[in-house]
Amino acid sequence: MALTMDNIVSLCKRRGIIFQSSEIYGGLGSTWDYGPLGVELKRNVMDAWWRSMVYERDDIEGLDAAILMHPQTWVASGHVSNFSDPLVDCKSCKRRFREDHLPAYAGIKLVHDGEPREELVVPAMGDSVEQMISKVRQGREWSSKPKGYWTVAEETVPVRPFCPECGGELTEPRQFNLMFETHLGPVKDSASVTYLRPETAQGIFVNFDNVLTTMRRKLPFGIAQIGKSFRNEITPGNFVFRTREFEQMELEFFCKPADKCQPGERTDMEWWEHWKEERFNWYKRYGIRAEKLRMRDHAADELAHYAKGCVDVEYEFPIGWSELEGIANRTDYDLKQHIQYSGKDLSYFDQARNERYVPYVIEPSAGANRSLLAFLCDAYREEEVEGKEARKFLSLHYDLAPIKCAVFPLLKNKPELVEKARGLARDLKPHFYTVYDDTAAIGKLYRRQDEIGTPFCVTVDMDSLEDGQVTLRNRDTMQQDRMPAEKVQEVIAESLVNARAR
Ligand code: GAP
Repeated sequence: MALTMDNIVSLCKRRGIIFQSSEIYGGLGSTWDYGPLGVELKRNVMDAWWRSMVYERDDIEGLDAAILMHPQTWVASGHVSNFSDPLVDCKSCKRRFREDHLPAYAGIKLVHDGEPREELVVPAMGDSVEQMISKVRQGREWSSKPKGYWTVAEETVPVRPFCPECGGELTEPRQFNLMFETHLGPVKDSASVTYLRPETAQGIFVNFDNVLTTMRRKLPFGIAQIGKSFRNEITPGNFVFRTREFEQMELEFFCKPADKCQPGERTDMEWWEHWKEERFNWYKRYGIRAEKLRMRDHAADELAHYAKGCVDVEYEFPIGWSELEGIANRTDYDLKQHIQYSGKDLSYFDQARNERYVPYVIEPSAGANRSLLAFLCDAYREEEVEGKEARKFLSLHYDLAPIKCAVFPLLKNKPELVEKARGLARDLKPHFYTVYDDTAAIGKLYRRQDEIGTPFCVTVDMDSLEDGQVTLRNRDTMQQDRMPAEKVQEVIAESLVNARAR
């Protein structure tokens, strides 16, 4: 059975991963709360990103800049004047859309035989423009048009989108700025206006010189940041795919443009290629199947005017192929804008060339929530176990799994078993996130942990009291191994470390 977004939403709600925000008040559109397991999963996604960026490399520093920034930041970045979407309303059903998200239609222009009468028509459902032209040429009558002979005056005329819900006419687009406005201090006037940041990137640009000088860096180097961003999206939706509040994981990698490179140094475009490969591989490393990932180059008309190149890493969600992350060569645009608006010198002194210039920037910009959704969709499995009931489980990478180990007593009414199982869970907790559970029969406890992707379960039974051995069960293979209780920590820790290795 094909996976739907509803399967994922229902799993998330049932198992305490994601809840609708403010649910008791009827919910707040497109905002979501991460429950006890969701908070772990999201942190694990962000930790995996941070580890691969900051800890596993030696050319990247971390940063945590404030969400509220000086309002001039957003003038310099272009967000005040350009960060807007074209908003259209349906004149009939009053629904609201982003015009650029509506399908583009082509129509044909017909002319009525013998009369100065033209009509623009769009293909009926299921018809292509070519099929419609052929019908007209075959002399078929149009039931909705006056009788007579129509001929094609002009082929493939662009038609303004219409309402996909009711077919109604749409208003002219209005530009709608996506930044959430707020006020600093008690007086709400134009002087106190600032914004919730719509991207974390600008916090990095304004700190470029601070990091460069305090960490005594030389080009090339990057600054990584994870944090909340806010956008007043016109059409949020598809669960946590597009929301108004979300977490970004952004790297700004400062490097030399080609004309400043010494022989053997990577140019900006070579670093762009490097980051495309690194980021694509990161998703694969954390368990996403290669056939569900692809790179999509931005068309020339999609590229920001300052960008030298941009690709999206896309994942095949149940809603179709959609963007996970963008990797752009932003050139020296952002730093130059901040130099101009702040009056501060953010150029770099290249000792080898004895020259100052503004670095180029490669930006891999990912969403933590979207990545989490992709990891969930990709890990979702339903399989039949030996002809019996279907087993649902999340085959999450061990690093991402919210809980690493669950410990159960085989019987909860045997105090000696409970005590030994609780003791083992307590011993494991300092090493990795372990829970104790005795609230159901053993089969049900396994199913529960499978459904949330816990890689290891340990069961303490009557024999354990005699021989000190327990059963370790693996989520993916369901293989059960007997081993001394004291060995469990070492075996699980080793599996976790091995899973992390590149
Ligand atoms: N600094 C560049 C930048 O912000 P973007 O393509 O607008 O680029 C980067 O955003 C990533 O942030 C996206 O690929 C997506 O993963 C995530 N993102 C953007 N808007 C989002 C939203 N409304 N809800 C969830 N994630 C979002």
